[in-house]
Amino acid sequence: MKKKLLSGILSAVMAASLLAGCGSAAETSAPAPAAETKTETTTEAAPAETATETTEAAAETPAAGGKVGVAMPTKDLQRWNQDGANMEKQLQDAGYEVDLQYASNDIATQVSQIENMISSGAQVLVIASIDGDSLGTVLAQAKEAGISVIAYDRLIMNSDAVSYYATFDNYMVGTKQGEYIKEQLDLDNAEGPFNLEIFTGDPGDNNARFFYGGAIDVLKPYIDSGKLVVKSGQVDFDNVATANWSTENAQSRMDAIISANYADGTKLDAVLCSNDSTALGVTNSLEANYTGDWPIITGQDCDVANVKNMIAGKQSMSIFKDTRDLAAKTVEMVDAIMKGSEAPVNDTKTYDNGTGIIPSYLCEPVFADVNNYKQLLIDSGYYTEDQLK
Ligand code: BGC
Repeated sequence: MKKKLLSGILSAVMAASLLAGCGSAAETSAPAPAAETKTETTTEAAPAETATETTEAAAETPAAGGKVGVAMPTKDLQRWNQDGANMEKQLQDAGYEVDLQYASNDIATQVSQIENMISSGAQVLVIASIDGDSLGTVLAQAKEAGISVIAYDRLIMNSDAVSYYATFDNYMVGTKQGEYIKEQLDLDNAEGPFNLEIFTGDPGDNNARFFYGGAIDVLKPYIDSGKLVVKSGQVDFDNVATANWSTENAQSRMDAIISANYADGTKLDAVLCSNDSTALGVTNSLEANYTGDWPIITGQDCDVANVKNMIAGKQSMSIFKDTRDLAAKTVEMVDAIMKGSEAPVNDTKTYDNGTGIIPSYLCEPVFADVNNYKQLLIDSGYYTEDQLK
């Protein structure tokens, strides 16, 4: 039943993904909602412009544009530092006062930060949730106070306070990872069988099911036919989820999988990792425990540590999600809400948060590997060459 629902959602996403892309796709407008209606591990130092510790003080003098609260999940993972820094800069450039907070992946901390934003006069909240299901009560308070909410990157579930959702095409991220493994192993022509293991993300993050679903829709036929063998037997979402997207959790699960299935030199051909923090844990474990030929490893985010691993041949690919584009789209949504107009969206079918479809803007995720990372990451100014040394 649950599976059917998910596959229904996922096919809708697949259709919608054809329209995706930051700025490139045809845009439709959704009505602007009335004001009264929304232990990961440290990977690598964040970019230079990234903010310092947990709490960022709001600017001293209120800007003419009004105040925006930005709630981010954690500083432990590089991408959120970039997201926060980009959001803060672009909102300030647009004339808004910004209250940017990081919650150390602690749900209670995030709830109390949002309560503070509400009581200190924020007019719009931009929230990348830690657990999409845990914000209902605090967001009811926001709605009561006439504050609009934008779900950032991760959908906030079961709350009718959410006006818009800005994200990347999460299902497409998964299909790109699955397709990569399919092509690299030449699954349609090679004899096989090939050994595969699977690592996805936190069950409280709605995105994780989309990443997993996109990849598994590509790979499942080969698992069913026996061309791909998952020796650990861990295939279902619940068995391959990684709490908090934690590098350590992924590493210790991989340790156990290697010792039970690959310690005798059995070749592991590919590891599907939904993102870079899990890929890092898998890579660490392989380096310590595995003696066979190096497997294909997928990832997502192009975190600095993982790009370095791609350059060193330890990770095969990643997905680049330009957080500058996501911030720009989100600022457009903030502007529209503040001005009482309509924000640009390109998806009004896919993301039902339990209270109805949330009008969304899906940016396009881009394939990255050792051959194109310079152009994607350095030429575009996302990283400096020095950061990747
Ligand atoms: C994001 C990914 C990120 C993961 C872990 C997901 O919601 O979309 O980019 O790797 O969270 O933080």
